[in-house]
Amino acid sequence: MKTKVLVTGGAGFIGSHTCCILLEAGYEVVVIDNFSNSSPNVVEKIKEITGKDVVLYEGNVCDKSLLKTIFEKEKIDVVIHFAAFKAVGESVRLPLKYYRNNLDSTITLLEVMEEENCKRLVFSSSATVYGSPKTLPIKEDFPLSTTNPYGTTKLMIEQILKDLKIADDDWSIAILRYFNPIGAHPSGLIGENPNDIPNNLMPYIVKVANKELEILSIFGDDYNTKDGTGVRDYIHVVDLAKGHEKAIEKVLKEKKLDCYNLGTGEGYSVLELVETFQKVNEVDVPYKIVQRRAGDIASCYADPSYALKELGFKAEKGIEEMCRDAYNFVKKSKN
Ligand code: UFG
Repeated sequence: MKTKVLVTGGAGFIGSHTCCILLEAGYEVVVIDNFSNSSPNVVEKIKEITGKDVVLYEGNVCDKSLLKTIFEKEKIDVVIHFAAFKAVGESVRLPLKYYRNNLDSTITLLEVMEEENCKRLVFSSSATVYGSPKTLPIKEDFPLSTTNPYGTTKLMIEQILKDLKIADDDWSIAILRYFNPIGAHPSGLIGENPNDIPNNLMPYIVKVANKELEILSIFGDDYNTKDGTGVRDYIHVVDLAKGHEKAIEKVLKEKKLDCYNLGTGEGYSVLELVETFQKVNEVDVPYKIVQRRAGDIASCYADPSYALKELGFKAEKGIEEMCRDAYNFVKKSKN
C-alpha cells in the first residue's frame, strides 16, 4: 500500500511543488485547499506535470467536520500543513484575522489527527521565528522571537507542537523553517502567482520585468551588507519541496519532534538578485532606492548543515536557475 499524505494548502506556491515531488516519489496525495490565495487550476497542473491523480477537497482547515470526513474516508498516514495566511504587512494591520485563521486551522487539524490516531506531521514554519539574529549563519538552536503577527502565529504553533509532543510522545513532528523560497517548476506550469500587488521581492521583480508594474522599489541601500541592500537566503521552491519529501521520510521513521532550517546557506543581496535576473533573462528591471521597510533585517541566511545531517537534504539549484524559472512561469502563464 502506498503511503497517503494529506497536504493542506496543496494548491499554494510551496504546497503545489511539494505535491508534484510526492507524487513523483510514489506517494498518494490528498489536498485540502479553500483557494483563498490560489486556484483549482493549480491542481489540474499538478496532475498534468506528474501524470498522477490527486484527491481534492475544497474547504477550510478550520472546518472540523470536513477534516473528520477526510480522515475517515482517506486513511491518511501523514500530514503536511501548509495552509495559512502569510502576508507580513497585512498581519500587522489585521492581527485577529491571522491569529484566528492560522491558529484555529492548526489546532483543529491537530485535534482531528489526535482523534484519528494519525500523529505524524510536517509543519511549515519560517525563518521569521529567528527575529533579528545576533550572528549568522542561523542555526536551529538560536533564540526565537518575532516582529509581526504572522511570525508570531508560526512561533506560537511551534510551541503548541512542542507541548503536544511533551503530552503525548507518540507524535512525530518535523518543523521546517523556510528561508526565502523563489523560482518555479521548470515546466512553467506552476509557480508563484499572488493575486494582489506582491509584497515579496521576486514576484515584484517578475511583474516589473513583465511590464505589469512600472518600477521596483528597493527598500534601503544603507544596511551593513556587501552593497547596502538586504541579504537573504533564496532557495528554489523545487529544492524546498524535496526537503518536504525528506521530512516525510523522517517522521515516518522516527518518533521525535525536531526543527530544520531549509535554506542554501548562501546570502544574496537585493541588487545581486535583480542583476542576476536581468542577465539570465535578458530583460530590464528598472528600480529605484527608497526608504527601508519597517521590520526588515539586514541579513538572514541559514546554516543548512543540520538538515543535511538529519534529513539528508541539500539544496542544489543556484540563483540563476531560480531567476530563470521564476520568469519562465510568468511568461508562460501570460501566453
Ligand atoms: N525587498 C525590496 N523591495 C520589494 C520587496 C522586498 O527591496 O519590493 C527587499 C526586502 O527589503 C528584503 C528582500 O527584498 O531585503 C527580501 O524581501 P521579501 O519580502 O521577499 O522577503 P522577507 O525576507 O522580508 O520575508 C520572507 C517571507 C516571510 C518570512 C521571511 C522569513 O516573506 O514570510 O522571509 O525570513 F517570514
